[in-house]
Amino acid sequence: MTSKMYILLFAFLSILGVNAQQITSPNGNISLEFSLSSNGEPTYKINYKSKSIIKTSKLGLTLKNADNLKQGFIETGSEETSFDETWKPVWGEESDIRNNYNELLVNLEQKATERIMNIRFRVYNEGVGFRYEFPEQPNLVYFVIEEENTQFALTGDHTAFWIPGDYDSQEYDYTESKLSEISGLFDSAVTPNASQRQFSKTGVQTALMMKTADNLYINIHEAALINYACMHLNLDDENMVFESWLTPDAQGNKGHMQAPCVTPWRTVMVSDDARDILASRITYNLNEPCVIEDTSWIKPVKYIGVWWEMITGKSSWAYTDDLPSVQLGVTDFEDVKPNGKHAANTAHVKEYIDFAAKHGFDAVLVEGWNEGWEDWFGQSKDYVFDFVTPYPDFDVEDIENYAKSKGVKMIMHHETSGSTRNYERHMDKAYQFMKDHGYDAVKSGYVGNILPRGEFHYSQWVNNHYLYAVQKAADYEIMVNAHEAVRPTGIARTYPNLIGNESARGTEFQAFGGSKPNHVTILPFTRLLGGPMDYTPGVFEMDISKLNPDNNSHVNSTIANQLALYVTMYSPLQMAADLPENYNRFLDAFQFIKDVPVDWEKSVYLEAEPGSYITIARKDKHSNNWFVGHVNGKDARKSEISFDFLEKGKKYIATIYADAKDANYKTNPQAYTIKKMKVNSQSKLSQVSVEGGGYAISIIED
Ligand code: NOJ
Ligand code: CA
Repeated sequence: MTSKMYILLFAFLSILGVNAQQITSPNGNISLEFSLSSNGEPTYKINYKSKSIIKTSKLGLTLKNADNLKQGFIETGSEETSFDETWKPVWGEESDIRNNYNELLVNLEQKATERIMNIRFRVYNEGVGFRYEFPEQPNLVYFVIEEENTQFALTGDHTAFWIPGDYDSQEYDYTESKLSEISGLFDSAVTPNASQRQFSKTGVQTALMMKTADNLYINIHEAALINYACMHLNLDDENMVFESWLTPDAQGNKGHMQAPCVTPWRTVMVSDDARDILASRITYNLNEPCVIEDTSWIKPVKYIGVWWEMITGKSSWAYTDDLPSVQLGVTDFEDVKPNGKHAANTAHVKEYIDFAAKHGFDAVLVEGWNEGWEDWFGQSKDYVFDFVTPYPDFDVEDIENYAKSKGVKMIMHHETSGSTRNYERHMDKAYQFMKDHGYDAVKSGYVGNILPRGEFHYSQWVNNHYLYAVQKAADYEIMVNAHEAVRPTGIARTYPNLIGNESARGTEFQAFGGSKPNHVTILPFTRLLGGPMDYTPGVFEMDISKLNPDNNSHVNSTIANQLALYVTMYSPLQMAADLPENYNRFLDAFQFIKDVPVDWEKSVYLEAEPGSYITIARKDKHSNNWFVGHVNGKDARKSEISFDFLEKGKKYIATIYADAKDANYKTNPQAYTIKKMKVNSQSKLSQVSVEGGGYAISIIED
């Protein structure tokens, strides 16, 4: 060989990645290859059943006022290990979760700066997780991240189910489009919210669900988002390469790090069967085991609330209309005129407690119970609420005693109005107040711009606040359901008192103009991968003007679809969102909400296609009963299922709540049928659902 040929061969080998190292998933379907490029850039690629899923993609970080951590690396060592363990979640879609992966740890040193950055890869049967690790070392102690430059180089112009990348809001409807269409559709995908900040017309949020032309399902997300900024993805839509885009802090920095430290995991799930994405527990498995020793106080909750009447505008959170401004401790509520619409009053709360007791709900949430709602957001107000001072018509002790006498728990509400620091200032007193009055769960909220001013909802500092609230709550044995907080990334494995989050467009938007009828066929593929959502299903009156003549919003869903959500939208915290008076009109359908459990031994994913339909069967954790939910997003469709998940030889009575033939999510949403039949493991069902419709089945052991 001539020397020229040697050079060519060398160049060729370095393009291929001379140091390539490969690991595969336990079942062999997924392979991940790590290599360093000729100038020492860390790269990886992923194949699924020999097809390329992620093409050679670069890894690294840009630092502020320091050399970047992107190239000039040599590999100083590596280690391959395997792991296979089954753990028991405190609550979940199943009682046992298998955590089985092959791992590759690559030790890298940037020669010129003598800095160490390791990359740990874990390959599961349904996907890959990897993160950066910075061990203790002399030349990299404190550093500031300007940007993380993790690439995901895709193999084509896939179909994506995306919401606009935003530092402050996740409450968007999904757009289904080709990746190349994102920039053109971006502006129309941005709908208003109390606080929002987009950063790029090709910026999207995770979990991002995609489908390739050859029917592979790919999902990109993150796990264990702790002491770090939340990751968005920004698309180079000429080359179809996504790159990480972190949420900045008030100064524009994206992370203040101190080694030893690690980043969250970046996850890529892939399968040719969409059901595998729903069944995957990668996000939980990449989180640390539970750190709460005694978890006996953490219990799944089915609840109702003094809530929908405020969301629809029928009632108010505020006590009076006569105060344009409120200063806590200064404003005297005793002397002002009540507006007559304040829902959180003792007599009304007792009606909810009665309804909860009568129908077997665990708890009642009450919002608008504390002073400050007359003037709670929009003014960048620091001291908004103190979380301990009730309005004059809300008798804390009377309600506490009444609820106790009826065997019903109360759920506290802490709206922070985005003032995280004010919440931290009051947190101990607020949690103690809860314990003193028999509350062991709190719904918190972060509406409006964050204070300290300039911070965003998903920056490192604010993410640390959300976790601090959960950890502190655990000290008081309090369960947390945080709205508007950063989207969950499986940290409920470590802190199972985080029993819910909103962090997406929930049912409230059905009263703010409506959501797309297929929204609920996408959420389980995106938002729910990181943890349960307080979606607040169960709305039976779809015409909101019936509750509030000034609100013409329409709930884009049928009653049967609303019932199915209790199964398809897994959560250990489930609300029946509508007003008692609406349930009283449809008691036969309401029966399903009463019967459906909130904790499961086993889940079987029967049918799934993002944007179109999802059918799930789940077995109750505390009985032999099964429940099935099917949501249908687009066009009338026949769902065909077999009951072979049932135990052989056992007999059951199935009650099927389905769309009536003439049901229509817009014009006839309350048309449903209820049919009872005997079933066993050999039974089959074909059931038609309308667009925005569905069915729910309770299968009770005979
Ligand atoms: C938005 C939350 O999502 C909603 O549930 C709550 O009622 C309001 N904020 C007021 O806190
Ligand atoms: Ca919200």
